[in-house]
Amino acid sequence: MKYLHYIITLALALTVGIAKAGEGMWIPMLLQYNEKEMQEMGMRITADDIYSINHSSLKDAIVLFGGGCTGELVSDQGLLLTNHHCGYDYIQKHSSVEHDYLTNGFWAMNRGEELPCPGLSVIFLREMRDVTAQVLEGISIDMPEDERQAKIDENMKKIIAELEKETTYKVSIKPYFLGNEYYVLFNETYTDVRLVGCPPSNIGKFGGDTDNWVWPRHTGDFSVFRVYADKDGHPAAYHKDNVPYKPAKHLEISLKGAEEGDFAFVFGYPARTNEYLPAVAVDQEANVIDPVMVDLRGKVLDIYNRYQEQDPKVRIQYASKHAGIGNGWKKWMGVTEGINHFHGVEKKQAYEKGFYNWAMQSRSRYMYVNLLRDFERNYQELKPYQLAYTYVAEAGLRIELVSFASRFARLAEVDKDTPQDKVDQMVANLKTSVASFFKDYYEPIDRDVAKMLLGEYLKAQPADFRPAFLNDIKDVDEYVEKLFDKTMFTDEAKVTALLDNFKAKDAKKLANDPAMKVYQSLIGFYRDEVYDHISSINKDNDRLRRIYMKGQMEMQPDKRLFPDANFTLRVTYGKVEGFKPQDGKTFRHFTTLEGIMEKENPDIYDYVVEPRLKELYNKKDYGRYADKDGSMHVAFTASVHTTGGNSGSPILNADGQLLGLNFDRCWEGTMSDLIYDPDICRNISVDIRYVLFIIDKFAGASHLIEEMTIVE
Ligand code: ARG
Ligand code: ASP
Repeated sequence: MKYLHYIITLALALTVGIAKAGEGMWIPMLLQYNEKEMQEMGMRITADDIYSINHSSLKDAIVLFGGGCTGELVSDQGLLLTNHHCGYDYIQKHSSVEHDYLTNGFWAMNRGEELPCPGLSVIFLREMRDVTAQVLEGISIDMPEDERQAKIDENMKKIIAELEKETTYKVSIKPYFLGNEYYVLFNETYTDVRLVGCPPSNIGKFGGDTDNWVWPRHTGDFSVFRVYADKDGHPAAYHKDNVPYKPAKHLEISLKGAEEGDFAFVFGYPARTNEYLPAVAVDQEANVIDPVMVDLRGKVLDIYNRYQEQDPKVRIQYASKHAGIGNGWKKWMGVTEGINHFHGVEKKQAYEKGFYNWAMQSRSRYMYVNLLRDFERNYQELKPYQLAYTYVAEAGLRIELVSFASRFARLAEVDKDTPQDKVDQMVANLKTSVASFFKDYYEPIDRDVAKMLLGEYLKAQPADFRPAFLNDIKDVDEYVEKLFDKTMFTDEAKVTALLDNFKAKDAKKLANDPAMKVYQSLIGFYRDEVYDHISSINKDNDRLRRIYMKGQMEMQPDKRLFPDANFTLRVTYGKVEGFKPQDGKTFRHFTTLEGIMEKENPDIYDYVVEPRLKELYNKKDYGRYADKDGSMHVAFTASVHTTGGNSGSPILNADGQLLGLNFDRCWEGTMSDLIYDPDICRNISVDIRYVLFIIDKFAGASHLIEEMTIVE
């Protein structure tokens, strides 16, 4: 029995340590090391076709979009695709009651109608190089951290200064493998990016927050932009004479779709993963911190829901807040479920045992021997502070009144010596945010949220781990009623009047406001009692993680490990495939328009179907965008390792042609940011044929299709 247990533990240990097919976020310039495996899985192109600095390659069609998503060029005239939820802010900024593009969609029928998007930029990676040796020159393993960092900073400055002489691109250096390797990136940023089109929200956000993170999915999550350049193709600020940018490469689009088991890869900008955390950290995240956030957010969402259901105006006011809070809420639930179901902590522990034994085998591995013990100590120490931080953020600052008051904290410190122009600037900035805050503020919700959150705060956190104001509360409900009655920050007229004739002496009024005092108490507690502990422990954890990473690389010299996501361009690959989330439950890998009609419910906001879409469905008017099975495919899943930031990324077939746009993951596998399991981790993409069908048949914007390179 014991022996069996040992074998199982060993088997588990092996599964955690090895990059499985589907797992991994690979550095494009090193893709030749993956090429063989990719080709064995079915890829018909080469690593060099994907990333090259000697000739045009797929990388020339990929951009970091708006600082948080990925986009791809699909014509030689700068036409760009990304997700609807990535373009959302820009669509919203152009929307008004008269032109409600969010609701109705928008289509520029010619270049002149395309809408400039101030503040939006796209970034192309032109080249990357390994500069590890230069960055780590003069660094030794025993160096004190501060000294080490200073030396690294100095080295990087030198390298960048040198490289800047040979290029006009923006040069930056980023750490990979938690600081064991460094790569320099040459980037080019284009700032004249215009909105070309987007479907109505009933298509682009179909299923809304209800379906978010969930499969089966039917969201037409795409929007269309165009990148402009000066007449020589260089980046230029918006100007009406700018011309569409001609990329060195744009993506071909396949109308063939993908079969179960087909090779597929995603090329884009994953933001952050933590695949090499020790067990104790994974356990803390999945079983201590995430559950608190899920619980608090769930209770907030319950209150939002109750009010949103009663009043359509409130529904709209809280739609975006609901989406923001709900996105994390749902994801973290999935993370905890996934980690525990998968026995992720136990598997990591077993792996760590193997690591420890390996470290003990040689004196030269002395620096690895105590790592796991030190992690253990640090995370135990960190836990109460991490919880304290979580409550400050999720229970304190989540109260809208408190976070609104916080915006006035600097103005509350003004005195007669503060330069007038500074005061004027602060007042002007605040004025613009006041109207937009009150436009979407519904006080009864916030009162209920405050009562609930402060009650939870008091119940969960011991007196010395919470801000002072909480310790004076006798009856939470009474306290909250009084707070909201007395503060000026719930009264738009009062706040506006104060800003309109702001005098230095008014700062006192702000400082003495009870909501400001709550904010000061919260933030004072965080600053004085929490922050230093967290940052010093985490600084040490960063060091431990770097050394642990180095050790793992040494222990498995023949294995390809991949660096955690760090918002740089990566290639990830797997297969188009469905999955079995539970015993007895199997998901097919694709959805169709039939499913949209099944979900249709005119009374539920998330499931309203556009009449025009229904018409096309009834006539089965899918043109060349239908699958060979005759139906209109909407979305599909694949075992490709993705994370936040991969939204909008192209998912490509064996020939490097566009199959769809990645936009989400399945809830059951959201633990993939910590541990990837090829059996249940699936990314979700909208089928490119549905995108083209909406552009062409639904919106009648066929001039856009004509620009594209379509392979039938
Ligand atoms: N879950 C996806 C991601 O993390 C999509 C979020 C946007 N969609 C939504 N319904 N809130 O970003
Ligand atoms: N929806 C995410 C994004 O916006 C993608 C993910 O987390 O899978 O980037």
